[in-house]
Amino acid sequence: MLQIITPSQYAMASTQNIDDYESQFTTIDLEQPLQLLANWVQEAKDLGIAEPDAMNLATVDRDGNPHNRMVLMRHINDREIGFFTNLESNKASEIFATQRTSSTLWWPQLGRQVRIEGTATEMPRDMVEEYYQSRPRNSKLAAWASKQSTELASMERLHQEFRKYEAEFSNKKVPTPIFWGGFTILVDKIEYWYGKPFRLHERIILSKHKNNWSKTRLYP
Ligand SMILES: Cc1cc2nc3c(=O)[nH]c(=O)nc-3n(C[C@H](O)[C@H](O)[C@H](O)COP(=O)(O)O)c2cc1C
Repeated sequence: MLQIITPSQYAMASTQNIDDYESQFTTIDLEQPLQLLANWVQEAKDLGIAEPDAMNLATVDRDGNPHNRMVLMRHINDREIGFFTNLESNKASEIFATQRTSSTLWWPQLGRQVRIEGTATEMPRDMVEEYYQSRPRNSKLAAWASKQSTELASMERLHQEFRKYEAEFSNKKVPTPIFWGGFTILVDKIEYWYGKPFRLHERIILSKHKNNWSKTRLYP
């Protein structure tokens, strides 16, 4: 059964046999390299962990400088993950420039980390529409009000913008802004990490070469 791992449990583990710890990776199927990620997110959700799909997203600008920030991984299938954002934000410009991304998810309560590398492309509009329209009305209005990553004179200004759109769309469906969208990341590398006692952590990296996936175990 899945358990929250606390540091004190790790300390207590020093009395136990290192071979007693079951591998987390026996079910990895190279036909479905992202399945374990989907399972881990679901298990984090089921345990009530805050923001179970929060991930760090690193992008690279035209000059080769890396930038990173958190986003919510709101899409996953058997070959790609995805997130939503402002298409005029810094992260979007960096993706349009170089496409490569690197992401990390971490659930400290479960001792699990996943690292993902891939190539990002703009998400089809039908997926964006469906997600945007599922959001709470205030989140939709906030997306209209934010010129994400550009200079904002004051919070008052942001609130004015919010109220402007609140009035403009009162008693109407809030349309999806043309400047708001998402990106899918076609994954070519995914590493699963599971923290174990004595720092004998377990790592498996799955890599795609042409259309075939391979699996390699790495020293922690
Ligand atoms: C937990 C968390 C989740 C976030 N999720 C998103 C998200 O899904 N999309 C988004 O555009 N920004 C999200 N943000 C804000 C971004 O981290 C970032 O501040 C913003 O997108 C501007 O980034 P940029 O200037 O690099 O484009 C999130 C922040 C946090 C702390």
